[in-house]
Amino acid sequence: MSKIRTAFFCQNCGHESAKWTGKCPSCNQWNTFVEEKVQKDIPMRQMEWKAETPSAYKAPKTVHLDAVEGLEEKRWLTPDAELNRVLGGGIVAGSLVLVGGEPGIGKSTLFLQIALLLKDIKTLYISGEESEQQIKMRADRLKIRNDQFYLLTETSTQVIFQEIKKLEPQLVIIDSIQTLQSPLIESAPGSVSQIRETAAEMQRFAKETNTPVFLIGHITKDGAIAGPKILEHMVDTVLQFEGDQHYAYRILRTIKNRFGSTAELGIYEMTGAGLRQVNNPSEILISQRDDMLSGVAIASTIEGLRPMLVEVQALVTQSVYGTPQRTATGFDLRRLQLLLAVLEKRGGFHFGVKDVFLNIAGGLRIEDPSIDLAVLVALLSSFEDVGVSHKNCFAGEVGLSGEIRAVNRIEQRIAEAEKLGFEKIFISKYHKKGLDFSKLGIEVVPLGRVEEVYRLLF
Ligand code: TYD
Ligand code: MG
Repeated sequence: MSKIRTAFFCQNCGHESAKWTGKCPSCNQWNTFVEEKVQKDIPMRQMEWKAETPSAYKAPKTVHLDAVEGLEEKRWLTPDAELNRVLGGGIVAGSLVLVGGEPGIGKSTLFLQIALLLKDIKTLYISGEESEQQIKMRADRLKIRNDQFYLLTETSTQVIFQEIKKLEPQLVIIDSIQTLQSPLIESAPGSVSQIRETAAEMQRFAKETNTPVFLIGHITKDGAIAGPKILEHMVDTVLQFEGDQHYAYRILRTIKNRFGSTAELGIYEMTGAGLRQVNNPSEILISQRDDMLSGVAIASTIEGLRPMLVEVQALVTQSVYGTPQRTATGFDLRRLQLLLAVLEKRGGFHFGVKDVFLNIAGGLRIEDPSIDLAVLVALLSSFEDVGVSHKNCFAGEVGLSGEIRAVNRIEQRIAEAEKLGFEKIFISKYHKKGLDFSKLGIEVVPLGRVEEVYRLLF
């Protein structure tokens, strides 16, 4: 008879402990330990994915790097340009990709749509959450037909692998990892030990057969990714699908990628018939209007490889309470405080008695430091209650001594601003010599210090 071993797992970070503890020593959360059954005596090999061809996993031996035969990285470009972008140039053969997102954000819709769009690739979509009829209804809504698309509503990995062997799909999508169940582990689906084991089985399958596998995982509201977080080190790529459920825009962000950059963003709009790719994000991130409003400035930023113009909105008001409030959405709050300190010290503006609210339009979170200058202008504009022309845009980092610093790929930022019809772009005067802006259809204004920004614009 097999012996059943149990262990305690932190449901927040996956830390394993032999006995129950109140506070997790790894992530410091309270009351997160749950006892799970970990069955040990079933021979592990019996259940594993068995590939027909022998692989490096089967015959471990040390090799000289030069003796390893180079394999060209095989990628499929999907018809979805946004997905290709976040994956670093298409789906890599044999890769294991984890896609996290809050419930209801549109993960199932996105991956059903992508699977249906891949017309030449035999795709198996495994759902443990919805019935065949529900998925059929959704596919009808998307209005894409594909005769290479197969559906399986099943949660047991044993059954799933049997079906996979019969069907031999070229791509597998699992919706979601929290519903999968391995007969090797006794605890309930969604528990830490189940998630770990089922993902490990999928990983073995992906690597041994060179089939890409997408795992969809739910994350909780506060961003503390219960469950899927423990998989981040196992998978090749982690994508996050985010956005406000009250707005139609959705962002697919790369958190980790063994095959590309993590700075990439994919942008979609949720419509009545699925997700629409937004190939030119600037058009949605800048509100279209003609009048000059105070507190608004446009930044020419670059996210990943793509330039985009983003609207920054600031509101500066007299503080009613003793301690002034500072709020930032889509921008680092500490960075905002730093910019306010620079304005206070270098420009003599008294923000100490003001409440400051800052917002990046469109629900985006911008990491590119070149947005500093636009934030500074929006703050000054609201402080003075004087609008800045909507034909101006900005690209520069602000240093602690109030200098406007150069940013990377300035030519690309200027070109994007010119393409979108801006008349002036304000940049740092410290860009390398030899850049010729005279032939452009946009005026380039070099700036050295914060005081000059104020003198020129207000
Ligand atoms: P869903 O893909 O089920 O989200 P998740 O898998 O992340 O939990 O999400 C769907 C939401 O999107 C749901 O509220 C309905 C809406 N939706 C549309 O607006 N248009 C569509 O074409 C579809 C299929 C769904
Ligand atoms: Mg879903």
